[in-house]
Amino acid sequence: MVNKNDRVTFGSKLGVILATVGCAVGLGNIWRFPYMTGANGGAAFLLLYVICILLLGLPVMITEFFIGRHSRRNAAGAFKAMAPGTKWSIIGYNGVLAAFLILGFYSVVAGWTLEYITEAFSSSLSGKSAVEFANDFTAFSSSIVRPVVWTVIFVVLTHFIVVSGVDKGIERASKWMMPVLFLMLVVLCIRSVTLPGAEKGLAFLFKPDFSKIDSSVVLSAMGQAFFSLSIGMGCLITYSSYFGEKTNLQATALQVTILDSLVAILAGVMIFPAVFSFGIEPTAGPELVFITLPNVFNQLPLGNVWSIIFFLLLGLAALTSTISLHEVATAYVHEEYNMTRKRAGAFVSLEILILGVISSLSMGILKEYTVFGLTFFELLDYVTTKIMLPFSGMLICIFVSKRVDKSILKEELTNKGTVPFYFFNTYAFFTKYIAPVAIGLIFLHELGLITLIKNMF
Ligand code: PFF
Repeated sequence: MVNKNDRVTFGSKLGVILATVGCAVGLGNIWRFPYMTGANGGAAFLLLYVICILLLGLPVMITEFFIGRHSRRNAAGAFKAMAPGTKWSIIGYNGVLAAFLILGFYSVVAGWTLEYITEAFSSSLSGKSAVEFANDFTAFSSSIVRPVVWTVIFVVLTHFIVVSGVDKGIERASKWMMPVLFLMLVVLCIRSVTLPGAEKGLAFLFKPDFSKIDSSVVLSAMGQAFFSLSIGMGCLITYSSYFGEKTNLQATALQVTILDSLVAILAGVMIFPAVFSFGIEPTAGPELVFITLPNVFNQLPLGNVWSIIFFLLLGLAALTSTISLHEVATAYVHEEYNMTRKRAGAFVSLEILILGVISSLSMGILKEYTVFGLTFFELLDYVTTKIMLPFSGMLICIFVSKRVDKSILKEELTNKGTVPFYFFNTYAFFTKYIAPVAIGLIFLHELGLITLIKNMF
């Protein structure tokens, strides 16, 4: 077992933030956020999303940081160390399972970015109409060979990076990659909001229509908040176990949360004005970003170059996330089943390949096979983001409130009293009451239990 003091820690403050942002920022912000917002009514969803980030996401993230740095263990080990002989480590196992399942659909979408890079290289993205882009995407994503091949390539790439331990290079690369991606987003936002008819898109994103809110929209907003911040997975526990003694946990959580949300909102500003300007349906679903952006690139000089750089960066942002997800699963199999890291990595990759191939095919030939009306791709997404991650967030809050002395919590979060935490009592209150109760109520509501109880009286 690794001695608490032998573990490596992040070298610099910037390194801490960038690595954690690298894990948080990914397809969730640029692909999933716009399509969820489009499918759930626009601004009302954005408002609920921001509320979930602040009321649930931020406190849970601070709590995960506390658990990670306090225990200096991986996700499953942290609970074993802090509550030996109890069942709390189920939170860690839930995270490992979620990592597998998320990779099962995430790697399919990551594969799509590779298709778009090659298409841009062959200039086949230029000169098409919005309808042609949409039709081409449907034809591509529902076909049997290409999307499956890209998924396999992406999983294999992640596999080699994880087992050969070259992720340090990726980490270093994210130092310039993230700022460049951010800059590109800003330029694309400017291009998008200056398109004819852009105001409709901005109104859709920022002018809430409260009649659009129902329990499923609330659940979707909560799921998106957890997924985007990488909460409830054990990823953040693992990352924070490498934080230094001087890392300010509350400030880091706040910075990561703000940056992550900013990237998502910018993605919204980049997509929706263009969606309305080109007459695309905001409710298009998972293909929304892929059928909207090529239209925007076509409106820019050197559109193909823009496409290549953008999809490359999006692919890399996805890669930093798939690496952290793969790492959670590999570390677990390696440690728990006494396998070498290589074997554990191969085992994990094989499972992900199976899930990935099935979920890619569920966009086409396996479309008819559904569970509760959801295709395999949709099922993996639903179960992880809307059930497993929030459930685990709720348990994390209950765990800390029940098992950890408030003075220990305060000591860790204030670095032994050397940094102030002005809102400690508010944080503790949110963690103990607001977050678990709110998550619980949203679950009960979605399951229809609250309506059932109301109807009984
Ligand atoms: N937060 C990532 C994204 O927004 O793309 C997805 C993710 C990565 C979720 C790592 C969970 C995780 F542990």
